Amino acid sequence: MKILVVGSGGREHALAWQIAKSPKVQMVYVAPGNGGTPHETKNLHGITNISITDINDLAQFSIDEKIDYTVVGPEKPLSEGIVDLFRSMGLKIFGPTKKAAQLESSKDFAKAFMKRHAIPTADYATFHEAAAAHEYIEQKGAPIVIKADGLAAGKGVVVAMTLEDAHQAVEMMLSDNQLGDAGARVVIEEFLMGEEASFIVMVDGKNILALATSQDHKRLKDHDEGPNTGGMGAYSPAPVVTPEIHAKVLREIIKPTVQGMEQDGIPYTGFLYAGLMIDANKNVKTLEFNCRMGDPETQPIMARLKSDFVDVLIHAERQSLDEVELEWDHRVALGVVMASYNYPNTPRIGDEISGIPQENESQVIFHAGTTLKDGKLVTNGGRVLCVVGLDGNVKGAQTRAYDAVSKIRFDGAQYRNDIGYRAIKK
Ligand code: AMP
Ligand code: GLY
Repeated sequence: MKILVVGSGGREHALAWQIAKSPKVQMVYVAPGNGGTPHETKNLHGITNISITDINDLAQFSIDEKIDYTVVGPEKPLSEGIVDLFRSMGLKIFGPTKKAAQLESSKDFAKAFMKRHAIPTADYATFHEAAAAHEYIEQKGAPIVIKADGLAAGKGVVVAMTLEDAHQAVEMMLSDNQLGDAGARVVIEEFLMGEEASFIVMVDGKNILALATSQDHKRLKDHDEGPNTGGMGAYSPAPVVTPEIHAKVLREIIKPTVQGMEQDGIPYTGFLYAGLMIDANKNVKTLEFNCRMGDPETQPIMARLKSDFVDVLIHAERQSLDEVELEWDHRVALGVVMASYNYPNTPRIGDEISGIPQENESQVIFHAGTTLKDGKLVTNGGRVLCVVGLDGNVKGAQTRAYDAVSKIRFDGAQYRNDIGYRAIKK
């Protein structure tokens, strides 16, 4: 089979790496991929980059190259309707339709959906007008959370600890229009306390297949300080998701979501990622939905998957995910993100990267913001690498990951030194 993976991050490298292990696969194309995706080793089938990002060009490429199946990494092509387009041309693809992807692409859609189907989430109200939003904030008090309705590349959520910050966020989004259309509507919601976890499942329209649990670290600096980022590290499994909480999340959040989408006439297919907040009393609320896998959560999850992922994708296409039982490496996988100078603001690119160790049984290095320039590997984005260690426990996985990190060099490299600390405390 020939498989196409759409995207260029660490998540897509991990998906392509896992897919290439399948004996059913001759070639994996990654569009546009990164500096680490194109390779061929004796264990893997080939992985090749193609420099296409436009969804119409991707569809044409799939027809010309007779691609058997496409997997989509990021939300952007999904919200542009890549799944609708591919299906209309008879091409097989795993992901949600444009309408279903609104669970991620519109916070207002997601909140109204959750309210309608009694899925636990923070109380909220939606505003178009700054004056009404300011009044609501005064009424509710701080802390409070302001969210741009649309996709805003990680800049759309302000967790305001003071009234001043909350009002400022409303001004930024509704009055000054700094996020453009994405911020023309805002959701203002109740501040939730607890521990976050990522719950990712695959959905074939009716059946749900849960992937291994995971947790990421959103803040730039150690001890969860500094600005929010796309994620500075992640590990799988997440000890906070006990078997009891796992069952509860499936029962109270995931199943009602998939059934609710079907009832609303928008059957859901693809990865579904619920961002959870779990409080001290084991109450679980949905912070957000993503219609894709997480990045960096995918990297440790894919590092642990032992089943043939292509078989799983075939089951998804046939609507028989209920027949799949996934096999996982019993070890913990822990990934440390190495980011470039000045991430997450305006990351510097072009710094030469050296010292990346060879992959082995307990260390895998996934590329994200890297590219090959004049034969040299250089930084090409904010999050550069995700260095994954595997071991029998979190501490061991952490040691193996940081052992590899310590060998990798590029100017201005930033990474956290405490990935996994919550899991180690438990
Ligand atoms: P979101 O994109 O909606 O997941 O928000 C990004 C991050 O903001 C989350 O991972 C949380 O850390 C934080 N956040 C979002 N909503 C809330 C909330 N209601 N209460 C507390 N923190 C939140
Ligand atoms: N790591 C968080 C996300 O992918 O949204």
